Amino acid sequence: MTKNHSITQRKQDHIDFLLSDPLIERNQRDFDLIQLTHRALPELDFASVNSKLSLFSKTLDFPLLISSMTGGAAENLGQINRHLAEAAEHCQVALAVGSQRAMIEDTSARRSFDLRQYAPSIPLLANIGAVQLNTGYGFEQARIAIDCLQADALILHLNPLQELIQPEGDRNFAGLADKIHQLSQKLDIPIILKEVGCGLSSADIELGLSAGIRYFDLAGRGGTSWSRIEAHRAESDLGLVFQDWGLTTCQALNAARPYQDQARFFASGGIRNGIDMVKSVIMGGYVCGIAAPLLRPAMLSSSAVIDKIQHLKQEFQLAQFLVGAANIESLFLNDALILRAPSGRQVYS
Ligand SMILES: Cc1cc2nc3c(=O)[nH]c(=O)nc-3n(C[C@H](O)[C@H](O)[C@H](O)COP(=O)(O)O)c2cc1C
Repeated sequence: MTKNHSITQRKQDHIDFLLSDPLIERNQRDFDLIQLTHRALPELDFASVNSKLSLFSKTLDFPLLISSMTGGAAENLGQINRHLAEAAEHCQVALAVGSQRAMIEDTSARRSFDLRQYAPSIPLLANIGAVQLNTGYGFEQARIAIDCLQADALILHLNPLQELIQPEGDRNFAGLADKIHQLSQKLDIPIILKEVGCGLSSADIELGLSAGIRYFDLAGRGGTSWSRIEAHRAESDLGLVFQDWGLTTCQALNAARPYQDQARFFASGGIRNGIDMVKSVIMGGYVCGIAAPLLRPAMLSSSAVIDKIQHLKQEFQLAQFLVGAANIESLFLNDALILRAPSGRQVYS
């Protein structure tokens, strides 16, 4: 099997493990420890609740980002991406694709990322692994990924734990901040630095800021465990030992708090309903990324994805109404809406 085929096969394996091992979903998010205030007199007409916001100069209907998942040479991976793109366009939410390394190393995978035709008006986010900047990737590969999607921003994902557990993983994360900085200076669209489920810490954010990055996807612990997924492909039990490693999404949001005036932070990792989303926005998540819960619907049809997104929006707007917030500005970083947070919240901030 060539390396190209092995990237597509790896994406298939990830999906198979995710669908067959329920413990990959860790259910350890700490959103449930946060209690929002309740307004019995919200002084709002529910019909007037407005959840719209602007992202990369485009309007989102509510602050949802379909987080990076897949793409590759196989037919089913292309179908998943098409369903996600059609649903994102219909619902006017943002979409990030999975790592585009597959299409950079195998042109037959390109079609699965050719999504602008299905999603002409929404923010589409390209994606490559930051560690690939140490394996010969640079401006040229970033441009290929961006141009294919006519992307509004480029995600550079940071997945050191996953790479360490992965049998064929890339382990050289040295000197990346400099290379990220150089790339950001050459690109005409923003870079988003993103984890994949272990969270970004204050030190990561500071390094990213000094590398010129102004967008971060915190992608914390609590939902999909990449360490556990890779454990299925590895020969040792390391992936299980580290399956709950990292900052939860709430911890990462608190770590990001002091930097809110310098950057936009996306909340993701274990966000499972519209109440989690409202809590994330209150804690400073500009948009909320959700990945695994959208996978099964995406395997079915775009209308299954639309149903799921509409359900999330309904939950979001109910919670928004019940805390008395007429619009997103009234939610964002509004601490007064938090009735009770775990004692750790003060410790993190
Ligand atoms: C099937 C699947 C494939 C993924 N592939 C990628 C990827 O290629 N690049 C990336 O940055 N993140 C990838 N992720 C990580 C997600 O974007 C997200 O950061 C993580 O799963 C946490 O969100 P969740 O708990 O809502 O799933 C993938 C997630 C899933 C479920």
